[in-house]
Amino acid sequence: MKVLVVGSGGREHALAWKLSSSPNVSKLYCAPGNPGTAECSTNVNISDTNIHDLVTFAKEEKIDLVVIGPENPLFGGLADRLGEGGIRVFGPTQQAAMLESDKAYCKELMRQYSVPTAESRIFTNYADAKAYIASRDEPLVIKASGPAMGKGVIVCEDPADALRAAEKIMVDRIFGESGDKLVVEEKLTGQEVSVLALVDGRNIYVLETAQDHKAIGEGDTGPNTGGMGAYSPVPFVTDSIIQQIERQVLVPIVDAINRSGTRYNGVLYAGLMLTTTGPKVLEFNTRFGDPETQPIMMRLKSDLFEALMATAEGKLDEVTLEWDSRPSVCVVMASGGYPGKYDPGMAISGIEEAQAVEDVMVFHAGTTRNNAGRLVTFGGRVLGVTTLGETLLDAKSRAYTAVEKITFDGAYYRKDISDKAMVGKGSHTGK
Ligand code: AMP
Ligand code: GLY
Repeated sequence: MKVLVVGSGGREHALAWKLSSSPNVSKLYCAPGNPGTAECSTNVNISDTNIHDLVTFAKEEKIDLVVIGPENPLFGGLADRLGEGGIRVFGPTQQAAMLESDKAYCKELMRQYSVPTAESRIFTNYADAKAYIASRDEPLVIKASGPAMGKGVIVCEDPADALRAAEKIMVDRIFGESGDKLVVEEKLTGQEVSVLALVDGRNIYVLETAQDHKAIGEGDTGPNTGGMGAYSPVPFVTDSIIQQIERQVLVPIVDAINRSGTRYNGVLYAGLMLTTTGPKVLEFNTRFGDPETQPIMMRLKSDLFEALMATAEGKLDEVTLEWDSRPSVCVVMASGGYPGKYDPGMAISGIEEAQAVEDVMVFHAGTTRNNAGRLVTFGGRVLGVTTLGETLLDAKSRAYTAVEKITFDGAYYRKDISDKAMVGKGSHTGK
């Protein structure tokens, strides 16, 4: 079977790495891929948002399955165009992807289907938003409704901050038309957890849990990033919490999408806050999480191709996934200055030495090769150093042993990835 993975981040390297080990995959492409995916697949120089060229390539190469990694191609309708062209695809339609691309729509759907989430109000003009915010005196979360590259959510401790955030989004239009609608939400507290499930239009298969570390600083301080590390499984998410999430969140939202005139196909990612009154949805993503995918793929023992193909074909009921019981930790190494400004082009060394540590895989995210063919930094999040260990502490210590072997100018990483597993223990009351 010929497979094309669309995207170029750490998530796509992890997916391509796992797919490349499948005996069913005879040819694997990545578009556009990165220097990491070049080691386990053939990179194709087409941008992940160039829908026309991606569809043409998939047709010409007679690709059997296209796996869409990032959100932007989904929002642009890549899954729809591939489907129309008779190409099998893993990834939701543009309409189903509105769960992620339009937070106001998503909140309304959750309200209709009684999915537990933060109380919220939606505004289309600033004067109304301002009057409402001024009338509240508790911490609020202000969200641009449209896509904002993960930066459209501002958590505000007091109403003055919330007013400033609303003004930036609706008046200064820092996210452009993505801020035409504003979601104002109560601030929830608790541990955050990511629950990802394969959905084939009908059946739902929940994957192993993971916890992201979104803030740049240790102890979850400082501005949010794309994710500075993740681990799997999350010890305080019990089977009964998973069942509750499946019943109260995943089943009703897939039902809602299916009744909206499309079908949900691909991976559905629920970002949840475990509150004292049960799990509540913070957001849905309509794709694999990054960096959650890295530790999840590290633990997957089954053939990823079979699972994704079965999802695309509506045969998920025939799939059972096997997992490595050992925990996995992924530490992201970022460019100095990220998530603010940073300089690219720093020479990277030590990846081979890091991968010589047992059960270590280094996934590339923001790397490239310069004119001389040297591996250099390119993006904010550069590498995801991912390990397995007998215990979470063992996986963590192995991850940092490997991280310390890798160098580039300005390299930054959090030193506390996976510590939240301990903090979370006992802090959640379940139902
Ligand atoms: P989102 O993109 O909606 O997941 O938001 C990004 C991050 O903002 C989440 O991972 C949370 O850390 C935080 N966040 C979003 N909504 C809320 C909320 N209602 N209460 C507290 N934190 C939130
Ligand atoms: N790890 C968060 C995300 O993928 O959006």
